[in-house]
Amino acid sequence: MTGHIAILGVFVADCAFRADRPPHMGETLLGKSFQLGPGGKGSNQAVAAARAGCDTRFISRLGRDTFADLALATWRDAGVTPAITQGETATGAAYIFINDTTGQNAIIIVPGAAAEITPEDVERQRDIITSASVFVTQLEQPLDAALCGLRMARGAGVTTILNPAPAADLPAEFLPLCDYVTPNEPEATALTGIEVTDLASAEAAGNALLDKGAGAALLTLGEMGALLVRPEGSIHIAARPAGPVIDTTGAGDAFNGGFAAALAQGMDPIAAMNFAAATAGLSITRHGTAASMPSRAEIDAALAAT
Ligand code: RIB
Ligand code: NA
Repeated sequence: MTGHIAILGVFVADCAFRADRPPHMGETLLGKSFQLGPGGKGSNQAVAAARAGCDTRFISRLGRDTFADLALATWRDAGVTPAITQGETATGAAYIFINDTTGQNAIIIVPGAAAEITPEDVERQRDIITSASVFVTQLEQPLDAALCGLRMARGAGVTTILNPAPAADLPAEFLPLCDYVTPNEPEATALTGIEVTDLASAEAAGNALLDKGAGAALLTLGEMGALLVRPEGSIHIAARPAGPVIDTTGAGDAFNGGFAAALAQGMDPIAAMNFAAATAGLSITRHGTAASMPSRAEIDAALAAT
């Protein structure tokens, strides 16, 4: 199987501020640096998948402004094929605070134009979704659009991945439509009520997600690596940082895009999970989100090195 990937999601411009700590309310704080770059979880995942060597189509909505131009240039450079509509609402943005010492982040996202993605927009891309090998979506765009895409993909026998980010309380109909659900720790907690702090609690949350109907739960656990929970048992892999950690923003997107690309290229889920971890492990050694996604050659070299 070497079909294409269809990703439904959001593009925004990332405005990344590095500082020693976030500002307190009412305080003005001098930061260390600022970077404007392409972001949005869905778009980042599409860039990761395309750079990992996969034919990738991205379904979304943009405004008609300089951020939209940034989106189109980003996809062109990465080899992502856009399936988008454009309207008068401005393309969105994300405020990203990055701790200059630890590389960890906190984000506020305003999806802007992409908040107006409708089930009808998704319906219009039916051919792209139903002929895909893998369909991926997240929760930054409206839930009814995500649900429409998952239903359409599932109905056509396409492998479905839901990255349930940002954390949300999901209607019960979602998880039975997902072959894989890929939360990080807080997202797994939001979905299950189980406080995820270690591998045992991650496995408990994974099993709760299976009980809610997911085919498999693939939990991303930061420094603790990743845990694949399936009915037949669980598999844990370590994180694979490729060097000193510079910026963890978008690591989850690198993981999801890499995982989807690996599945679409016929890898089994465990090989795909290692491929995903190598993709994420490279991304965290670089600044930015979409800008930090590695090439296929870099991923292959990282996998060969260990
Ligand atoms: O996952 C990282 C992404 O989340 C950033 O690019 C930001 O835009 C938010 O969507
Ligand atoms: Na990065």
